Amino acid sequence: MQLIDGKAISMQIKQEIAAEVAEIKAKGGKVPHLAVIIVGHDGGSETYVKNKVLSCEQCGFKSTKIAFESDITEDELLAAIDKLNKDNDVDGFIVQLPLPKHISEQKVIEAIDYKKDVDGFHPINVGRTSIGLPAFVSATPAGILELLKRYNIETKGKNCVVIGRSNIVGKPVASLMMQKAYPGNATVTVCHSGTKNIKEICKEADIIIAAMGSPKFVTADMVKDGAVVIDVGTTRVPCAESKTGFKLTGDVDFENVAPKCSFITPVPGGVGPMTICSLMKNTLLAGKKEIYK
Ligand code: GUN
Repeated sequence: MQLIDGKAISMQIKQEIAAEVAEIKAKGGKVPHLAVIIVGHDGGSETYVKNKVLSCEQCGFKSTKIAFESDITEDELLAAIDKLNKDNDVDGFIVQLPLPKHISEQKVIEAIDYKKDVDGFHPINVGRTSIGLPAFVSATPAGILELLKRYNIETKGKNCVVIGRSNIVGKPVASLMMQKAYPGNATVTVCHSGTKNIKEICKEADIIIAAMGSPKFVTADMVKDGAVVIDVGTTRVPCAESKTGFKLTGDVDFENVAPKCSFITPVPGGVGPMTICSLMKNTLLAGKKEIYK
């Protein structure tokens, strides 16, 4: 069994990005600028945003954090988005999710100029990704594919089972894994809460991508010998021994599943760090106007 070290790969990629930014700077070019909007004080979101700002520093990007209280109105938030859409210095920006209940996430996502949508959540980027056109690819799926690539994991003709059908992970990763490309070219099955025989379907999988947010759902009896297991779960489970009072728990029963795998991602330190890294890559592409002019 080989552990897929997302933390090490993400550090390597951030160094590659920083080297490219240094070159851009040396040639007198514009340093990429990412803006992040955060609404309210959700603990998870605050940690993610802090790490995104820190990653921008590591990559040599300019970053701007814009924080609003949770009582901001939808119109006020849409006005802030409009301002960033029109700000020529901002190459890309994201609105950290989830948002308070009184704000429509879909309305917010669609208000972002797709040319600055470095999260890849706008329907134009989702649609272009699904038909194989250049686009900002959603960060978590892009990070998963990058891990498969960096570990030279064969995907062509493999049975890939995706568990979960969210708009930001399950659907786009399924779409990418079936593209005629590497990584991809797999036979993809998507399982979800309506699937009757998940265990039998998973047993046939060469690659399992678990992304339904249910701690330790994937157990050893669901995994065939030699499978590749990618764990996207990051549920905060209360933990008395931890300083923070919780620990991040994946969708895979790692202890019992790992010995059966050829490759497996740990939680934390697997897919998580790659997600931020993919956001940095998208920001670099936005800064270089490589996807959209
Ligand atoms: N909340 C959880 N993951 C993400 C993400 O990748 N982007 C944004 N904007 N919000 C999130």
